[in-house]
Amino acid sequence: MTRVFSGMQPSGDAHLGNLLGAWVNWVRMQEDRDCVYCVVDLHAITSPTEHEPERLRERTVELATGMLAVGVDPERSILFVQSHLHEHAECTWLFNCVSGFGELNKMPQFREKSAGKGESVSVGLFDYPVLQAADILLYHTDEVPVGDDQRHHIELARDIGQRFNHRFGEVFTLPKAVHPRAAARVMDLQDPTVKMSKSASSEKGIVYVLDDPKRIEKKFKSAQTDSATDIRHDREEKPGVSNLLEILAATTGRGVDDLAQEYDGQGYGTFKTAVAESVIETLKPIQDRHAQLVDDPGEVARLLAVGADRAREIAAPTLQRAKEAMGLLPPHAA
Ligand code: AMP
Ligand code: TRP
Repeated sequence: MTRVFSGMQPSGDAHLGNLLGAWVNWVRMQEDRDCVYCVVDLHAITSPTEHEPERLRERTVELATGMLAVGVDPERSILFVQSHLHEHAECTWLFNCVSGFGELNKMPQFREKSAGKGESVSVGLFDYPVLQAADILLYHTDEVPVGDDQRHHIELARDIGQRFNHRFGEVFTLPKAVHPRAAARVMDLQDPTVKMSKSASSEKGIVYVLDDPKRIEKKFKSAQTDSATDIRHDREEKPGVSNLLEILAATTGRGVDDLAQEYDGQGYGTFKTAVAESVIETLKPIQDRHAQLVDDPGEVARLLAVGADRAREIAAPTLQRAKEAMGLLPPHAA
């Protein structure tokens, strides 16, 4: 069966973009693939400004709880916390020794995140893509569902795997990035020309997965549209309306054009209410499951422990093979 691996950083509250852009696919892929999903807390500590120990612990549990609530099924898939396996950090070291300073220095995300920070940039941030390569390659991953911004990181993982296999023998499966048709690329409700993101300047444009119905309604009612009244899909001319149409399409399962036809002429007020209602309805079962899980924290911890054990069953032998292929002396073999 096709093996899928994906990860998300515990670095903020999950929003509609995470749900419709990533999680909906994660859940769907469980139907016909062997999925491994990971809360990548070791990646989250590469940015000192966002790293607060107490918050990190909370957010790690929150993100895992969110993944379970949206429908990541621990019976079918593996869900675990990256730092629960030492194999990821250890494999990163092996990969560090087959990765070039030059290729890492060119990574667009590193360039972006380190810009203007001078000498204070951490080695961890520089090494971030190598850790990501370890995540992926330890599981013989075939497909990595990610946003387009991760393309270079997946290519690097492939390059590292290929280089390793070439030098030391076939150990790693070469992965490829897949960009499953996202339910939607969700834009900020206040500024529909930028992606909905936890780093937005205002909360008003972000709909969180755990927002209550009143707040969701308020956010959609004040969503930025334009001064015309027609409802049609045109990202250039009508970014606000188009974003709402896409959210409505993603949460109803209907087509954008079909919805545009239905709502055109009814005014933005009615349209926005319909979008809000559809989002509220989509989030309701997720929020209910989330509340149940929060009531039973022992259960989330138990599921994560099971997930870590199952992850280790795959990762540990892969790492062992890699170490032996590199000529590291197995314990007790001297
Ligand atoms: P981030 O919250 O940036 O760590 O992203 C985690 C995942 O959610 C990635 O797979 C992104 O592609 C996806 N994602 C984040 N924001 C959006 C958005 N506004 N629209 C669609 N997908 C998103
Ligand atoms: N870098 C990814 C992101 O920011 C998160 C991530 C870490 C990841 N390890 C991964 C994604 C492995 C896919 C596979 O979205």
